[in-house]
Amino acid sequence: MSTIREPVVIHKGLDNVYVKESKICYIDGEASKLFYRGYSIEELASHSTFEETSYLLIYGWLPTESQLDQFTGKLESYRVIEPRLLDLLRKLPPKSDPMDVLRTAVSALGVYDPQPATDDLDARIDKALAILAKVPTIITAFQRLRTGSDPIPPKGHMTQAGEFLYMLTGHEPDPHDVHVMDVALILHAEHEMNASTFACTVTASTLADMYSVITSGIGTLRGPLHGGANEAALRTVLDVGDPSNADSYVVDALTHKKRIMGFGHRVYKTWDPRYLILKKLGEELAVKKGQTKLFDTALAIETSARKHLEGTPIFPNVDSYSGIVFHMLGIETDLFTPIFVMSRISGWTAHTIEYLEANRLIRPKALYVGKIGLPYPPIESRSGKPQE
Ligand code: ACO
Repeated sequence: MSTIREPVVIHKGLDNVYVKESKICYIDGEASKLFYRGYSIEELASHSTFEETSYLLIYGWLPTESQLDQFTGKLESYRVIEPRLLDLLRKLPPKSDPMDVLRTAVSALGVYDPQPATDDLDARIDKALAILAKVPTIITAFQRLRTGSDPIPPKGHMTQAGEFLYMLTGHEPDPHDVHVMDVALILHAEHEMNASTFACTVTASTLADMYSVITSGIGTLRGPLHGGANEAALRTVLDVGDPSNADSYVVDALTHKKRIMGFGHRVYKTWDPRYLILKKLGEELAVKKGQTKLFDTALAIETSARKHLEGTPIFPNVDSYSGIVFHMLGIETDLFTPIFVMSRISGWTAHTIEYLEANRLIRPKALYVGKIGLPYPPIESRSGKPQE
């Protein structure tokens, strides 16, 4: 029996496939430009806060003072996590990857919500804001539990960035550290139809609840080709150890066809504008924290990679310096991707709501190239190998 073939084009990786019209994010990957709702990332990083940016992404406009007060008040009211979630975190193996913990905890929030599903878009946003506000509490609680300390409840009257740094240590965070963290959260909040946002959109298109939507996003962001690259990029810098080793590392990696983490992007074929902002913050932080060798090593890897990759569209992306920045803020490496979640929930929510306003179940096709109509063989006559 012959295979069925249709005259179709396969879009591997869904490159250049549009799944909706959107007013949330515009990227010009050839011109190094990124806009959230029309505002450039440079403007937002200079003037906005993560809370304002989240409001902008989710609702579509920059909030007035009273709208912002209401929004931050809501986040604050949601920040505390309930005792049974803390109990669950205590029971998870301390060696668990924090992304697995976060995925489990966000999924559990849905179980604890007496009414997780809703058709009302405002109620969906509310549930997403509750998750957004609780994620820093979950990450820091697990971090403290696995290192033998008690979780610290949120202090209140602090931003997402400030609360996160406070709950990690229990100390009032340095205002400049809070600023750096806040800018990092702004830079990671949204990036159009990337893999995790698409995963959220697919889940939302089935009308699943927001806990399922965000759990899908977390699972997808986890991979080393997406959110996990920041951890890998820092590990590379730490392994290289000194600017003088950078060139031999890069040559060896490229010779053996290994990818240099923190480089390359599906959309940016030039400098990632977020990288430029983070690099500057990283440079300032390195001087302040006395960690210039770390920064100089990253810079040497970048310089060498750009020299050897000259003529290719492979440039540093946001992850080439984000890991270094988080490391200098005293954050453990495996918390970097959870921090990404702590920010990206805003973008996931914005896209989910926008898609649901004119929902259509996402159901692409696969071109079948196998056989059909095979006779069912008795177990004793099976080859135990794929069919020829
Ligand atoms: N280092 C070395 N070579 C690279 C790199 C890299 N970082 N990225 C791509 N290339 C090369 C590939 O080996 C391939 O070469 P070939 O044609 O000789 O086989 C060519 O460039 C094209 O690679 P693709 O994977 O097809 O390019 P794509 O646009 O799909 O890549 C991706 C995007 C997956 C991000 C890739 O650049 C990569 O793996 N980078 C490293 C991981 C990383 O930093 N990810 C973070 C992305 S940003 C984010 O998610 C927040």
